[in-house]
Amino acid sequence: MSTLPTLASRFTALLGASAPIQLAAMPGVATPALVAAVANAGGVGMLPAPMLSPEALEAAIDDVAERSSGVFGVNFLMPFLDPACVAVAARKTPLVEFFYGDPRHDLVEEVHGSGALVSWQVGSADEAAAAEQAGCDLVVAQGTEAGGHVRGQTSLLPLLSQVLGAVAIPVVAAGGIATGRDLAAVLACGASAARIGTRFVATNESGAHPAYVEALLAATAADTCLTSAFEALWPDAPHRVLRSAVEAAEQLVDDVVGETRMGGQPVPIQRFSVICPSRETTGRIDAMALYAGESVSNTNDVRPAADIVKTLLAEAAHANERS
Ligand SMILES: Cc1cc2nc3c(=O)[nH]c(=O)nc-3n(C[C@H](O)[C@H](O)[C@H](O)COP(=O)(O)O)c2cc1C
Repeated sequence: MSTLPTLASRFTALLGASAPIQLAAMPGVATPALVAAVANAGGVGMLPAPMLSPEALEAAIDDVAERSSGVFGVNFLMPFLDPACVAVAARKTPLVEFFYGDPRHDLVEEVHGSGALVSWQVGSADEAAAAEQAGCDLVVAQGTEAGGHVRGQTSLLPLLSQVLGAVAIPVVAAGGIATGRDLAAVLACGASAARIGTRFVATNESGAHPAYVEALLAATAADTCLTSAFEALWPDAPHRVLRSAVEAAEQLVDDVVGETRMGGQPVPIQRFSVICPSRETTGRIDAMALYAGESVSNTNDVRPAADIVKTLLAEAAHANERS
């Protein structure tokens, strides 16, 4: 019987996880089933909070807790912050995470007051230092290879070196990571874990629309671009998507390109909306925000999330055999 490598790190020790892998929070994609699957596999699952009421967030947290006894937390996008939801997340999960806004001491204190840890996803060494000063327990260094909204202007390796030099708290690496080799590389640099988004979009548990997943499977890093095109609801916020989605949206003239459901209610999707297509979305899927990191080059099949975690750990354990 083979024993799975565990790759213990400061991240696994701090959170009580067994794998140095964090699922990125992805609205519409990181379903309770996906969050639970990653947590059950020993990683840390992240539930997205944007556009949820406190009641809906609490129900989503309960849903994950019923499916998993593993570790999971909640992610907040600062432009859409709902303080009532932060209180729910801090009370009910061990990790509350923020992204896309200056680190705030008051928020960190509030979350600590409920006993949860605080993480901030950052795009520069200065922002990482500010997060540490604000009292955060860990930071995520996000390189420009990342899918979804991108905070900084530096790619992962140089950013990771700078962030590791700037803070003493554990650093999670994000952007472009999809294989065990990638995981081994960031751990070897000093990162305590890898945060992975795009690779987990192509999983059995993912909430992503099948046509979005198909487009990812067919794409490589060269098919992605960093743009501010999908700005309806969230202007001036660069994000990495499939270039084909920008081109398809540019060809359309209608203001509304489809419809989705949120909290059980139908919601129209405007042209260039930030909302990415989920299984509940109808309309011109190809012209919606098809977020994709450069990791899309190594996103080539749909598998159970637990399989991906297992493979990442096994490959990472052997990655330096070639050196
Ligand atoms: C579909 C999608 C949605 C995302 N949504 C969020 C989000 O709501 N909050 C957040 O902190 N990061 C979000 N991100 C960015 C991730 O946290 C992470 O930085 C990124 O996925 C890492 O790059 P990768 O996609 O190459 O793994 C999203 C990424 C993707 C692919």
